[in-house]
Amino acid sequence: MDALARDREWHRLIAARPGLAWNAMAGLGFEDVPLAAIAAEHGTPCWVYGADTLRARLATLRDAFAAEGLAPAIRYAVKANDHLAILSVLRMDGAGADVTSTGEFARAEAAGIAPGAMVFSGVGKRSDEIERAIGAGIGQINVESAEELGMISAIASAMGRTTPVSLRVNPDIEAGAHDKISTGRAGDKFGIAYSDAVSLYRHAAALAGIAPCGFSTHIGSQIFSPEPFEAAYRRVLDLIDALRADGVAVTRLDLGGGFGIPYDDGIAFALPPYASMVRRVAGNRGLELIVEPGRWLVGPAGLLLARVTLVKRTAQQRFVVLDAGMNDLLRPALYDARHGIVPVSAVDAAGVAHPAEVVGPVCESSDRFGDYALPELAPGALVAILDAGAYGAAMSSTYNGRPFAAQLLIERGTPHVIRMRQGIEDLWRDEIVPDRLG
Ligand code: LLP
Repeated sequence: MDALARDREWHRLIAARPGLAWNAMAGLGFEDVPLAAIAAEHGTPCWVYGADTLRARLATLRDAFAAEGLAPAIRYAVKANDHLAILSVLRMDGAGADVTSTGEFARAEAAGIAPGAMVFSGVGKRSDEIERAIGAGIGQINVESAEELGMISAIASAMGRTTPVSLRVNPDIEAGAHDKISTGRAGDKFGIAYSDAVSLYRHAAALAGIAPCGFSTHIGSQIFSPEPFEAAYRRVLDLIDALRADGVAVTRLDLGGGFGIPYDDGIAFALPPYASMVRRVAGNRGLELIVEPGRWLVGPAGLLLARVTLVKRTAQQRFVVLDAGMNDLLRPALYDARHGIVPVSAVDAAGVAHPAEVVGPVCESSDRFGDYALPELAPGALVAILDAGAYGAAMSSTYNGRPFAAQLLIERGTPHVIRMRQGIEDLWRDEIVPDRLG
């Protein structure tokens, strides 16, 4: 791609994201707040989220289903971004939570989400985690194996409780997602083998402490076409039909998450055809529907703001070294993910683009964002790494002695610090050195 086309690509990336806009003087702004002002006040790297963008996405998701006469319960996948403020924005607009550990359960509860509006997912729930969830009145436990079903029955009956349970089925579907985020193939660790699901559901109905309510499935993440979802849902619905034909009650279908977002300049997951497929396939069975989206809701509602530390030139390359790295945003290193990167200052953006390898400071060759076409960027220049609201801060670490970055939420035009930058001494605050090493 030539430089001019790349210049246009930044503009396309920005034009396609309603929260982002250029100002000839102030440069790139997010929800009307100049990013340069945020960087000047709060430093870099920092995560910037937009509450209005998040609300708008939740509304768009609901509207797509409403257009088909559907109103699934939205159980936001907390793993995508577990910040209390993000959870609070979603809770205020009626979302519940899909949680995968006591840590996520307690966070969602701390953000005011009622346990009854939560689904507990995950392949390795510990008995203490199950006990806490049941004790609080969890809305549904998505069971991943016969072994786990037995554990839940024993725990619930010892507590004198009955808990709603859905069986997570592995439909053996190739969803076309990245290998590391595909979850619905027979060889993946997730879910109950398709051929065991009907008998296990019948068995569940006979178990103490268990109220089987339905089935769930989640075939992977970053999926763009409705087809693999349809194939998976049809398979699960066949199970439901078979059970119902025998007079066994099945009331819920949890459709999972996995809706893709265009990180670079690619296609978007089209919600209307997906919602229409759901209506066609599952709409007329009187089932309560649930969805568990994470990335689609929160990914485009956040970015990672970074500064150029230096530009290193070799005979072959121009390395643009940022102050954000794989410890902040792991996705490029882990999944070869490519996020859009755009200059923040209007002056920089007016420059001619030429090839740059954008890297972080961490001592690993995989600490690399990728090859981009960027203008000349001097040390200190700012860039925005786009669509970093999901699986960004939630997966970050302090590797290489790099403190957790600050996080900001723009709420109705005002940026609020929602997580302070971690202090250097906080890096070892919880460490204990045995006395004799003192
Ligand atoms: N439900 C269950 C049971 C899940 O395991 C997941 C994600 C979701 C819902 C939400 O999926 P989403 O709508 O966000 O695609 N770290 C990876 C993504 C891992 C997803 C794990 N499970 C990444 O950065 O691409």
